[in-house]
Amino acid sequence: MAGRIGVVGSNMMDLVTFVERMPDAGETLAAPRFMTGHGGKGANQAVAAARLGSAVVMVSKVGDDAFGAAQRANFERHGIDAAHVTTAEGAASGVAPIFVEPSGENRILIVKGANDRLTPDDVDRAAGALKGCDLLLLQLEIPFETVRHTLAWGKANGVPTLLNTAPALPGLDPASVKDATFLVPNEGELALLTGLLVDGEDDAAKAASSLVEAGIETVIVTLGARGALVVDEAGARHVPAVRVEPVDTTGAGDAFIGSFAHHYVMGQGIEAAIGRAVRYAAHAITRPGTQASYADAAEFAAFCRELSGS
Ligand code: RIB
Repeated sequence: MAGRIGVVGSNMMDLVTFVERMPDAGETLAAPRFMTGHGGKGANQAVAAARLGSAVVMVSKVGDDAFGAAQRANFERHGIDAAHVTTAEGAASGVAPIFVEPSGENRILIVKGANDRLTPDDVDRAAGALKGCDLLLLQLEIPFETVRHTLAWGKANGVPTLLNTAPALPGLDPASVKDATFLVPNEGELALLTGLLVDGEDDAAKAASSLVEAGIETVIVTLGARGALVVDEAGARHVPAVRVEPVDTTGAGDAFIGSFAHHYVMGQGIEAAIGRAVRYAAHAITRPGTQASYADAAEFAAFCRELSGS
């Protein structure tokens, strides 16, 4: 039976420009390619988990515009329960202008729009649906008050939670997120969160251990092309990445989390689920776009077979 995942998070319309290089100030520069796509860290994580076969409930806010209707249709197309995707009257939907360089590296701006209007009351209204979830996923593209409320709700109701601390939130106090079962920062976010220098895996292990000592059960640090590090009371373990030729790295972190969540709620252990997640994210960066790059279960199985044959 499929596991059930709840996502309380953002959705954005991604406006992706592939550039040869970024223009200088005052310069106009032609770019070779543009695409629109469905994005937003919350929606991306929801879609990755749904593509792999999890049942997903989405709690999110769209604007009362054409992008909002398109986002709702996108959730439904992926079989995601969108009954708690509501419309903020008079607000624009979230958008994300994204620039992708030939190396696959990305730069992202977010205009949160309606995402800023997702409230604790919206979460409470979805409580019936969220109670049946095996794991709740959260990120930081919605009001922090709503994130904190959901983490506390998860703890009080026995529903495990995973907080992805992206995008980086300066001044975020680790004590305010200690209700999270899993905390998933990248190295930059980990440094900001702990005030410690994070340069390499040893530093990351020390900084993540300080969060475990402060009461967070499990910290998973994403290390990009170097894989991920899991740190809990038993210590730190490194899960290596797989080598691929990157085309577009946008949404790789979300692919990692959606896939981790799917495999974890299917009963895999934490390290095994991280092993699947680094492979799923690696596959995603070999394709352009954000959600458009996410494999379904059959494509992912074929990719894993290819890797083990190589
Ligand atoms: O993590 C990638 C996502 O960040 C993009 O889809 C964009 O919408 C922003 O939310």
